Amino acid sequence: MAGGLVIRFHVVTLFPEMFAAVTHSGISGRALETGLWSLGLWNPRDFTKDNYRTVDDRPYGGGPGMLMLAEPLEKALDAAREAGGGRVIYLSPQGKRLDHEKVMELAGREAVTLLCGRYEGVDERLIRRRVDEELSIGDYVLSGGEIAAMATIDAVVRQIPGALGGEQSAIEESFVQGLLDCPQYTRPEIWPEGAGEKVTAQVPSVLMSGHHENIRRWRLKQALGRTWQRRPDLLAARKLSEDERTLLEEFQRESGES
Ligand code: ADE
Repeated sequence: MAGGLVIRFHVVTLFPEMFAAVTHSGISGRALETGLWSLGLWNPRDFTKDNYRTVDDRPYGGGPGMLMLAEPLEKALDAAREAGGGRVIYLSPQGKRLDHEKVMELAGREAVTLLCGRYEGVDERLIRRRVDEELSIGDYVLSGGEIAAMATIDAVVRQIPGALGGEQSAIEESFVQGLLDCPQYTRPEIWPEGAGEKVTAQVPSVLMSGHHENIRRWRLKQALGRTWQRRPDLLAARKLSEDERTLLEEFQRESGES
């Protein structure tokens, strides 16, 4: 594996302490330790001039809530840029939806600055002047951009070669093939024990067979079937090979749903 830093994230946020969630645990925490990515945190409050360290004000035209002032945000973004901040992305429900393709695009960048809004949002002039791109993580409203920024960082960091234990894992995951994952099982072989259990207690026998080609086909069939049942939009966006079409038809026949 090539050594060295792969991606530098910068985050402009009023709540830098929240980012311990990605710097201190799990895959992203370990990848940070091994130097695969870095994180610069910039608090707009540190770029205010008044005694109250004001970062928000009421919206012109009235309405509920407060907006983030443009000035401290711009100064924080300047500081991030001077540290090599790269492309500026504002997390907001108004953005384009983050998906696997976008995650892979970000994973190929050297530096990304994520701007987190709080309150009812930020002054539009700051967005026009400084933001390259607006991204949303889904059609619901969070209390701020931080959790969306952490979701983005987590999804991107796991795509950096070496971030996951087995090099294969990131390739075999959901969405890489444009499909949902197949069901997975681990020990024990029968769980729960006892009659009258609603959930299938026995691990599918093909997985115990040691026959790699049969296992591969079973997994692909399950992945196709689940995607067809749960996310038909993903199947519609993807070409199926002849083999895949046959497997999906088998699944449909067996499920009696086609
Ligand atoms: N900030 C608030 N809600 C958000 C969302 N759904 N995605 C990204 N940023 C947000």
